[in-house]
Amino acid sequence: MMQTHYRKWIQSSLYLALITCSLYFIQFLILSDRLIVSHHKQITLKKHPHLPLRFNSDGTFKILQVADMHFGSGSSRCRDVFSSQFESCSDLNTTLFLKRMIDAERPDFIAFTGDNIFGSSTNDAAESLFKAFGPAMDSRLPWAAVLGNHDQESTMTRQELMSFISLMDYSLSQPNPLTQDLTKQEAITDIDGFGNYDLRVWGPPGSRLANQTVFDLFFLDSGDRAVVNGFKTYGWIKESQLSWLRRASKGHNQEICRSQDTPSLAFFHIPIPEIRSGPFREIFGEYREHVACSIVNSGVLQTLVSMGNVKAVFMGHDHLNDFCGNLDGIWFCYGGGFGYHGYGRAGWSRRGRLILAQLKKGKNEWMGVETIKSWKRLDDENLTKIDHQILWTSSN
Ligand SMILES: *[C@@H]1O[C@H](CO)[C@@H](O)[C@H](O)[C@H]1NC(C)=O
Ligand SMILES: *[C@@H]1O[C@H](CO)[C@@H](O)[C@H](O)[C@H]1NC(C)=O
Ligand SMILES: *[C@@H]1O[C@H](CO)[C@@H](O)[C@H](O)[C@H]1NC(C)=O
Repeated sequence: MMQTHYRKWIQSSLYLALITCSLYFIQFLILSDRLIVSHHKQITLKKHPHLPLRFNSDGTFKILQVADMHFGSGSSRCRDVFSSQFESCSDLNTTLFLKRMIDAERPDFIAFTGDNIFGSSTNDAAESLFKAFGPAMDSRLPWAAVLGNHDQESTMTRQELMSFISLMDYSLSQPNPLTQDLTKQEAITDIDGFGNYDLRVWGPPGSRLANQTVFDLFFLDSGDRAVVNGFKTYGWIKESQLSWLRRASKGHNQEICRSQDTPSLAFFHIPIPEIRSGPFREIFGEYREHVACSIVNSGVLQTLVSMGNVKAVFMGHDHLNDFCGNLDGIWFCYGGGFGYHGYGRAGWSRRGRLILAQLKKGKNEWMGVETIKSWKRLDDENLTKIDHQILWTSSN
């Protein structure tokens, strides 16, 4: 009897010693930075932005939209620049443009709308992502991305890309949306695509709206390519995604303390078929190329219209279109090609879009969102601002 006890005691002590040693070893590895994921990136904890996203004390919230960076290896050549510019132009020009835009506008949030990297020009997706999103991470501003149709053409699948992007510093990207049950923080997995999620923006610090969602940003995965009835075509937003969108929007418009629907924006890469077919009620900006979209119409426009609170949609994909077109009361806006390794037009500057939401000032307190404006900036010596436009005001 005593002997068995004694043996068990010895065994337990040995186990305990082993576990303690292992923990010390892991701690040693972490403290000494010996845990290495790729050749030069060491494991560090993800740096998080201040959450929740909030309007500033002056009642503004500004977003920079970056469409189609098409980042390659870091030294990939520029496409469609004048031959005199060709020798001195690479992915680094895209990096420089992004840095200048961030410095000039100091946005509150950066939204990357796909084709962030041009997969086939890099043999290390992780390295390309680190370089492409580098200026966003360095700026310590919160940012988020969706995928285009080229991101996965390298060493990562779409699922891997979204997981990776969600773990990058200051990123708010999510591979899958969270369930409505906020106490659980569980992700919905029975949904098509990777990169469907909802980011809520709260009112200014210390204000009456400090603990409420006053503005809402929806991100959707529009897929890459598909073959439908023998036709090669682009991806599209599926019914599972639309039904999540309807639920998410309705769910929190039912939250208490809500006098009106929360104005929202949506971000995805590939235009919907109505952008090609129209008819537009109004158009603002340049329409310079054929709209490339899916032959499948899954009813995205009807869903957005029926939700009632989506005021504008921001897309990419067609680099030579930078217009906003109004369909059934919702503005659909292109970012305009941002990156130099993507196709463009020599002499037609690469560009990016800004979106500014402004709260209404009541007697002594902030009310809900009053206006949503937009403009673009060109990558020239003055980062020239063009096409100022009001997308929505609460009075109409
Ligand atoms: C790219 O950047 C280089 C170095 O800053 C600059 O000399 C060149 O003019 C840029 N090219 C374009 C097309 O902007
Ligand atoms: C918001 O929440 C914080 C922390 O819970 C609380 O101190 C503050 O009074 C709340 N503000 C409003 C306007 O409800
Ligand atoms: C930039 O601004 C300067 C000074 O206002 C002006 O002389 C120059 O022509 C501008 N450049 C462009 C490309 O607009």
